Amino acid sequence: MTITKAVGGVCGALLIFLLGNWVAESLYSVGGGHGEEHAAAYVIETDSGGGSAEEEEPQDFETLMASADAGAGERVFGKCRACHKIDGSNATGPHLDGVVGREIDAVDGFNYSGALEQVGDVWSPENLFHFLENPRESAPGTAMSFAGLKSAEDRVNLIAYLDSLDG
Ligand code: HEC
Repeated sequence: MTITKAVGGVCGALLIFLLGNWVAESLYSVGGGHGEEHAAAYVIETDSGGGSAEEEEPQDFETLMASADAGAGERVFGKCRACHKIDGSNATGPHLDGVVGREIDAVDGFNYSGALEQVGDVWSPENLFHFLENPRESAPGTAMSFAGLKSAEDRVNLIAYLDSLDG
């Protein structure tokens, strides 16, 4: 809906711009002899090139984490739901409520592979950020078969969401 409006707006603006130009041009032509000045009439300025700058800029973890959006992270968690619950019960994976700041491999009754301990001792935001990018690379042999989240933004948002579940 928003996109439709934006596109409509841009098209409308362009139309008015072209129309205005045409009118100006016709007025000019009445006088005659101004041929050279017309050349500049169609320089159209666009600012549409700046949209992707945000993603290309490498940002450090602290900066990213400071602007994390837990609401967006809830949507990212959709990728984890198949295996992880957030109600204190275990599924294919251990429950993730309270995981931020929890010791690694610490859920009672869950049969861990032990591979996660290669990541560290505690699921600090940094460790989660690193682990979730590519679980099988940062914890070789892990039973978590998940490809990883390439987007750093998705990861900080997800961590903020998990952190918000602690109560
Ligand atoms: C295909 C199932 C599956 C998916 C999808 C999955 N996980 Fe896991 N996860 C597991 C399993 C199994 C383990 C236990 C791994 C082990 O013991 O090696 C685990 C372990 C973890 C742990 C360690 C918890 C602890 O108590 O030490 C974290 C954190 C985690 N997953 C986060 C996530 C997040 C966040 C996502 C979504 C982006 C996700 N996982 C997606 C299966 C999955």
